[in-house]
Amino acid sequence: MAAVALKLFTPARFLGVGRSAQASPRLKLHITASVMAATVEDFNNAKAKLGTLKKDPGNEVKLRIYALFKQATQGPCNTPKPSMLDFVNKAKWDAWKSLGSISQEEARQKYVVLISSLLEPETPAGVAAQPAGADTSYQNLLVSTQDQITTITLNRPEKKNAITVEMYTEIIQALDQASKDDSVITVITGSGDFYCSGNDLSNFTKIPEGGVEQMARSAADLLRDYVKAYIDFPKPLIGVINGPAVGISVTVLSLFDVVYATERATFHTPFSNLGQSPEGCSSYTFPKIMGAAKASEMLLFNKKLTAMEACQVGLVTEVFPDSSFHKEVWSRLKSYAKLPKNSLAYSKQLIRAAEKERLHAVNNQEVERLVERWLSDECMQAVMSFFQGKAKL
Ligand code: COA
Repeated sequence: MAAVALKLFTPARFLGVGRSAQASPRLKLHITASVMAATVEDFNNAKAKLGTLKKDPGNEVKLRIYALFKQATQGPCNTPKPSMLDFVNKAKWDAWKSLGSISQEEARQKYVVLISSLLEPETPAGVAAQPAGADTSYQNLLVSTQDQITTITLNRPEKKNAITVEMYTEIIQALDQASKDDSVITVITGSGDFYCSGNDLSNFTKIPEGGVEQMARSAADLLRDYVKAYIDFPKPLIGVINGPAVGISVTVLSLFDVVYATERATFHTPFSNLGQSPEGCSSYTFPKIMGAAKASEMLLFNKKLTAMEACQVGLVTEVFPDSSFHKEVWSRLKSYAKLPKNSLAYSKQLIRAAEKERLHAVNNQEVERLVERWLSDECMQAVMSFFQGKAKL
């Protein structure tokens, strides 16, 4: 119903951008030297360019634009929640609220990147020699390349960036694209207040004609390919963990080369709560990184680590204060991306080479165990409990 109501808005009206605020169509949105440090001027330019969009970007994107605009200009959402029947304002409020406490600077930055990604395909050929720029072919990711950095942003903040079947496929594609493009390093981060809440549990509720066995088999193939994409990724892969991380978004971090986290982040792998078992090679990498005892607390007994604890056990490289997280991390990444591309790629491949075969074998074993787990009563009961609202983490 909300979706129907939202269609009544044009982008400019919806976002409260009046005609007078719209820039000349010839004015190209300029993102300063770095996509990672949008100035107030960049923000104002982006706001002005928004009115020149020829194509309606769709309700989800409009909500996202609205939310980032509010967060950038007013900070976190503290207004009362509209009534359930006030569909449009409730949807807008939800979108704004889902950004949690991200800073105004970060929201400004994300707003600029988003508007830029919408403008890119509309820019006439031959105008602007921007870097590879943004790729808008993804539904639930923002993927852009700037300053030799390809950034993959999980972009489903209203669901805490839970990973749907489609998103797994998109992330595999985005990693494949990043492995072949001109970027020097690749970054994965999340939109909103969460990094990622792990596997979208509704993946378990979409039963195909072939029944649960077929669902489990296709999920296994997808998961195997997903983890493989990390094991085989040839360039430095960096996690910018902007908030809590759950499940598979935590386990695959052990396949990243560097992990930077805000102090607000937490790391939680509640597999036994869900009647499941470890994936992402964590049954092998976690004991190796943190020792069997600490790994078992996480993987068997669902211990949630703070960012500092995750750093102490070696899963996270460094933790930053939330207020300066964005600025400090991106200025560091920009300098990393100036290092020689091939030297970095070959060095990463050498560091990982000895483990690669082993990791593929572990991935296969974990996936086979999960097929059995997904079909178990223990798992089905846990998923049902979540959707009945009984079993939040
Ligand atoms: N799968 C499906 N939906 C999810 C999800 C997931 N992994 N994580 C969050 N969501 C949905 C919620 O159902 C909710 O949807 P709704 O608005 O339609 O009700 C929305 O995202 C927002 O989450 P909410 O639960 O309201 O936010 P919160 O801050 O109170 O709690 C979590 C966040 C992540 C603690 C909670 O959503 C949760 O426990 N999710 C399950 C995580 C999980 O078990 N992942 C699998 C690990 S193996």
